[in-house]
Amino acid sequence: MTAAMKAIVQHAFGGPEVLKCEDIATPEPGPDDVLLRVHAVSVNRTLDLSVRAGTYVRKPKLPHILGVDPSGVIEAVGRNVATRKVGDRVFVNLFVPTTDPVAPLVREVGRVFLLGVDIWGGYAECVRVPACNTHLVPDGLSFHDATVIARHTPTALNLIENRGKVAAGEWVLVMGAAGGLGSAAVQIARLSGAKVIAAAGADGRVQAARDLGADYGINYRRQDLADEIARLTGGHGVDLVCENVGDPVLWRAAFEAMATGGRMVTAGAHAGDEVALSLRRLYLRRLQIIGDGSEAPGGIARAFELARDGKVVAKIDRVLPLREAAVAHELVAARDTLGKVLLDPTLA
Ligand SMILES: NC(=O)c1ccc[n+]([C@@H]2O[C@H](COP(=O)([O-])OP(=O)(O)OC[C@H]3O[C@@H](n4cnc5c(N)ncnc54)[C@H](OP(=O)(O)O)[C@@H]3O)[C@@H](O)[C@H]2O)c1
Repeated sequence: MTAAMKAIVQHAFGGPEVLKCEDIATPEPGPDDVLLRVHAVSVNRTLDLSVRAGTYVRKPKLPHILGVDPSGVIEAVGRNVATRKVGDRVFVNLFVPTTDPVAPLVREVGRVFLLGVDIWGGYAECVRVPACNTHLVPDGLSFHDATVIARHTPTALNLIENRGKVAAGEWVLVMGAAGGLGSAAVQIARLSGAKVIAAAGADGRVQAARDLGADYGINYRRQDLADEIARLTGGHGVDLVCENVGDPVLWRAAFEAMATGGRMVTAGAHAGDEVALSLRRLYLRRLQIIGDGSEAPGGIARAFELARDGKVVAKIDRVLPLREAAVAHELVAARDTLGKVLLDPTLA
């Protein structure tokens, strides 16, 4: 008889109350899979809250189990798996390869499913994933930190280094600087030798980003973003904006703060999908707006190296037991946290 495990199952789209803690059968790993005992999984605004509500660009089939970024210990391996063994500490990348010809994401982001969106994810005591999706977590890095670092730093590396082509000495503005991606972007921009301005919507969040190494901070709900940037940069403006928010008012202010020849990189639209764009400013100032939500190639391994060397840290607000998934969603929705909210199914 298959053993039972606890999982957070949703049978309908809606508010946090649709997240129910249930006993379900523990999955068996397929030939190329591993079974992971989950020690950490994070709660993300888009890939958890929006998916749960049914407002994400893709709706999962119900019943569904969320959880895009679990890490933990391998408990069993499929018969073809030679690269991993029972007891390995791993993080699971959310882009799960598929040969399914009707895979819904095939046309959008390549031949992948998203863990926790198209297939059941890590809001459970155990999750079955392909072995090729697992990344070894370095000794000394906790599962909680590994989940947060691997979730955001590879995207920040792609945005700041690969697409933004940041150079030492440049001015970089990070919007939503205390968010998951923003926190990672602040640290990566700082490592490159840029002068980093962290912008956020509350003084505590500005300070949190300053604590991660930002040189300056602006509260864009209380201060005029463009005026402050003009003052800090001596009228030069910022060479690179890491946006990822999409608030129409804030977006325009950030765009107006760009230096001649400046770049804006963006991977998010959780605060709005449409903004007003001055085409004259765009061409007269030779500005570039670059959209890319992908991760840097090899980004997870690089992120873990940076974390191991103490060069990037995970900002965590709190860790809750699995059964408090609905509470965790309420906390993230309320936007009153300083850092990530995690679930740890090993907590009683
Ligand atoms: N791996 C990744 O991190 C990744 C990959 C691809 C795309 N993205 C996208 O990047 C964006 C940021 O993701 P994240 O995980 O960093 O999110 P997050 O932790 O929730 O941070 C988002 C930040 O946006 C700011 N914000 C401003 N207006 C907001 C509004 N109306 N509603 C909510 N937040 C608002 C908030 O800061 P203040 O309240 O201080 O303004 C918040 O700290 C999302 O759109 C996500 O889909 C992320």
